[in-house]
Amino acid sequence: MEELADPALGSVRVLLKHDDNKARKLRYNLGHPRVLTFGGAYSNHIRAVAEAGRRHGFETIGVIRGEEHLPLNPSLAYAAERGMRLTYLDRATYRLKHTPAVLDRLRETWGDVAILPEGGSNAAAVRGCAELPAEVEADYDVICCPVGTGGTLAGIAAGLPPGKRAIGFSVLKGGGFLVDEVARLQSAAFGRVFENWSLELGYHFGGYARSTPALQAFATKHRVEEVYVAKMLYGILDLVRQGRFPGGTTVLAVITGLPFTGAEPVSG
Ligand SMILES: Cc1ncc(COP(=O)(O)O)c(C=O)c1O
Repeated sequence: MEELADPALGSVRVLLKHDDNKARKLRYNLGHPRVLTFGGAYSNHIRAVAEAGRRHGFETIGVIRGEEHLPLNPSLAYAAERGMRLTYLDRATYRLKHTPAVLDRLRETWGDVAILPEGGSNAAAVRGCAELPAEVEADYDVICCPVGTGGTLAGIAAGLPPGKRAIGFSVLKGGGFLVDEVARLQSAAFGRVFENWSLELGYHFGGYARSTPALQAFATKHRVEEVYVAKMLYGILDLVRQGRFPGGTTVLAVITGLPFTGAEPVSG
């Protein structure tokens, strides 16, 4: 396990645990011969499902937000090379993607499919992510993760031993709805909402996949992925600066992603 070195930390320690939440979210979702899921044109989840389909031999269909752009960007090309069939929904319809009307239409087109929600966050995904804390050997007080659709935070918090707490950092602007969403996912997976987590909403840097020169410099300095991981780490350091962690606190930051170069495999 690495440790973040930054003079601003004082007596607070920040440990970095590399862990692929995409693989955890998929583990208990596999088993159907045909899987359909949703994502933006740069979605890590879309790539992870495509790679899982290739590896485990099931068909995959990716429903992508917006218009088709050819040639495919490296992220969608990666998915297509792994056999994923890509189809597109205009942005207005995409917003309604989880409604019965849109889902029925997709089933009419694609037949008998298992449908995974955007980001893969459903009850089975939450149960997969809940296995993470038991695998951490280091001692810590607070565990942190980035939040896009909420499944990772919902699971990690549910799997925490007593006395520890989880903080999620929203990468979305207007992420307030995620509080209800994390609670909903915990109820769906475990029949109850846990009280040991909170969400930070102020580190979105303009919204999903948006950035600022300060965040870009931070991501480059720490060599972390910018859409999710840099926002969380920046947020952790800012909370330390604000004195939000008592001296001597050990924070475990879950590094959920690597920068996508178009070449490295995505596990899952
Ligand atoms: C690298 C990375 N980190 C964090 C997340 C956020 O996870 P969640 O959507 O479960 O909140 C995602 C999205 O799936 C991701 O791809």
